Amino acid sequence: MQAIVAVSENWGIGKDNDLLFRISADLKRFRELTAGHTVVMGRKTLESLPGGKGLPKRRNIVLTSNPNFTAENAEVVSNPAQLIFTAGADAFVIGGASVYQQLLSLCDRVYVTKVFACPEADAFFPNLDESPSWEVAAESEIMEENGIRFQYVDYVPVEVEEDDFLTMPTPPEAFAPVDGFSPFSGF
Ligand SMILES: NC(=O)c1ccc[n+]([C@@H]2O[C@H](COP(=O)([O-])OP(=O)(O)OC[C@H]3O[C@@H](n4cnc5c(N)ncnc54)[C@H](OP(=O)(O)O)[C@@H]3O)[C@@H](O)[C@H]2O)c1
Repeated sequence: MQAIVAVSENWGIGKDNDLLFRISADLKRFRELTAGHTVVMGRKTLESLPGGKGLPKRRNIVLTSNPNFTAENAEVVSNPAQLIFTAGADAFVIGGASVYQQLLSLCDRVYVTKVFACPEADAFFPNLDESPSWEVAAESEIMEENGIRFQYVDYVPVEVEEDDFLTMPTPPEAFAPVDGFSPFSGF
């Protein structure tokens, strides 16, 4: 899975169930990256989309605990396990905060649009710059639209080296085996 998100300087992503920013270049990039793919989202994010319906030209899967929930152009699932099974590996997680939080560890790339502004927010994405589990794989130059500066930064999980598992701490000399000593000898 992959995730795609636009964040403010303190990783805010929304306020009052709405986005913090509308940057047309970023929305265009979002459309281009997700077109033809499956997108997965929480019920609140779906309801915040135009007309409260699934995005066109994409297969939309929405997570809700409400078994009676329906929405145009959207399939409904009731738990993350069902969502993962239904969506498949190349799906994009498109929000909101609760769904990012639950599915982030399954993502092998996160497309972040970093916006250099800090409006008040009530929904947040985990701060990947402060996480030892994520590293920057690519970053664009800083761009500007209508006075708003922003940058695309892709994060990938930090690779755990095989050697990290194999390296055993060397025992201190004091605990090195001594001739004639056996731990089973009763001292
Ligand atoms: N900046 C961005 O890129 C971006 C992208 C997307 C969204 N957003 C923002 O994020 C905010 C919304 O985030 P949010 O966290 O409040 O809402 P959300 O994640 O979009 O939706 C939350 C809802 O999803 C359902 N859900 C979540 N986990 C579930 C589970 N384990 N089992 C069953 N259902 C589950 C529940 O629906 P029910 O209550 O129906 O059970 C829950 O209330 C908005 O401000 C939105 O604009 C920002």
